[in-house]
Amino acid sequence: MSRGSLSCLIFLITICLVGKTSAVLSTIFYNETCPKALRTIRSAVEAAVSKEPRMGASLLRLHFHDCFVQGCDASVLLDDTDSFTGEKNSFPNANSLRGFEVIDDIKKQLESMCPGVVSCADILTVAARDSVFALGGQRWDLQLGRRDSTTASLDASNSDLPAPFLDLSGLISAYGKKGFNATEMVTLSGAHTIGLSRCIFYRDRIYNETNIDPSFAASMQVNCSFDGGDTDNNASPFDSTTQFKFDNAFYQNLLNQKGLVHSDQQLYVNGSGTTDSQVTSYSKNAGRFLEDFANAMVKMSLLSPLTGSDGQIRKNCRVVNS
Ligand code: HEM
Ligand SMILES: *[C@@H]1O[C@H](CO)[C@@H](O)[C@H](O)[C@H]1NC(C)=O
Ligand SMILES: *[C@@H]1O[C@H](CO)[C@@H](O)[C@H](O)[C@H]1NC(C)=O
Ligand SMILES: *[C@@H]1O[C@H](CO)[C@@H](O)[C@H](O)[C@H]1NC(C)=O
Ligand SMILES: *[C@@H]1O[C@H](CO)[C@@H](O)[C@H](O)[C@H]1NC(C)=O
Ligand SMILES: *[C@@H]1O[C@H](CO)[C@@H](O)[C@H](O)[C@H]1NC(C)=O
Repeated sequence: MSRGSLSCLIFLITICLVGKTSAVLSTIFYNETCPKALRTIRSAVEAAVSKEPRMGASLLRLHFHDCFVQGCDASVLLDDTDSFTGEKNSFPNANSLRGFEVIDDIKKQLESMCPGVVSCADILTVAARDSVFALGGQRWDLQLGRRDSTTASLDASNSDLPAPFLDLSGLISAYGKKGFNATEMVTLSGAHTIGLSRCIFYRDRIYNETNIDPSFAASMQVNCSFDGGDTDNNASPFDSTTQFKFDNAFYQNLLNQKGLVHSDQQLYVNGSGTTDSQVTSYSKNAGRFLEDFANAMVKMSLLSPLTGSDGQIRKNCRVVNS
């Protein structure tokens, strides 16, 4: 084959691949088929967040836990049954994920408005975006048209979601598997500027680590006892300064050695770590963080979507259509 025809072939293959992943999703996907879909989701998210501000954090995390496991296909929403094993009982998800009722409520409204049209996967991605905005973050445009899976993976949920006990190298490799580099990993971690963590995930850090502000550690120890299994589920805000505001305080806290979980403080060690300068930069420039976060979320929302005639539009986000 001549060099000319080889590059021509490569060009065509590229067109096919790019077309396959992006051309089917579109920002106006529901304009004709369910014109009020986005407004409906936004109102429901705003109502849920004003009723309970933490819900914004919970909805953001649902989308992350969806996308990192089989892609953004709403697999995380499927309930376990006698004959189906979902992801809700994985180590990172069990007794931890929340917000399912808000998604159910949105789905119910959309099904009565335009039955069988709006996917649960799209509801998750829009709800995450609107949650960040409702708590003061930046809004971003989303490509829509994802479809819902008929499968879930408990194994992938246990293996592909990063654990809070990871060191920097483990975090970089967990995100690397999903196509994100270290810079993007640091950016996405800024989601912990909102929401809560349970004691079980930070007990080691507040009792045994040295790169932690002593008064911060002491204040976190009050609700999380050294040996107390009965305090495992007590939760404290990741961001001890502005837990309901989507801002850059997460990074300022890291500079002050006030990261709550081990993995978060790994992003800033003592000024000489490989990601320290990015943390410093975000701590001084909220706008840069919010902009990078928006871009990284768009990228995350495009992890292996089901499109075209793949998957289905679930009627009920918790079960595969019969
Ligand atoms: C960097 C790796 C990450 C680790 C190790 C991690 C770990 C955790 C842990 C342990 C919790 C607390 C769970 C519980 O107490 O039951 C949590 C909560 C949370 N995570 Fe992450 N996470 C990571 C990345 C992310 C990303 C990328 C996002 C979103 C883009 C995110 C959003 C959240 C939110 C918003 C909460 C609070 C949820 C709530 O209050 O309901 N996390 N995360
Ligand atoms: C699609 O709908 C949105 C929201 O209603 C509107 O802002 C936008 O102009 C519409 N775009 C097209 C091409 O119809
Ligand atoms: C990570 O990827 C982004 C583009 O998404 C790029 O701007 C950045 O320089 C990359 N960082 C590293 C460490 O490669
Ligand atoms: C702290 O570290 C010691 C020694 O490794 C260990 O025995 C203990 O269980 C740890 N305690 C907590 C709360 O992490
Ligand atoms: C500890 O628990 C009390 C009572 O639930 C709560 O008011 C307080 O905010 C908690 N402190 C932290 C740091 O989470
Ligand atoms: C900073 O941390 C690195 C890695 O933990 C360590 O090798 C280095 O000695 C530390 N430097 C200072 C000044 O504490």
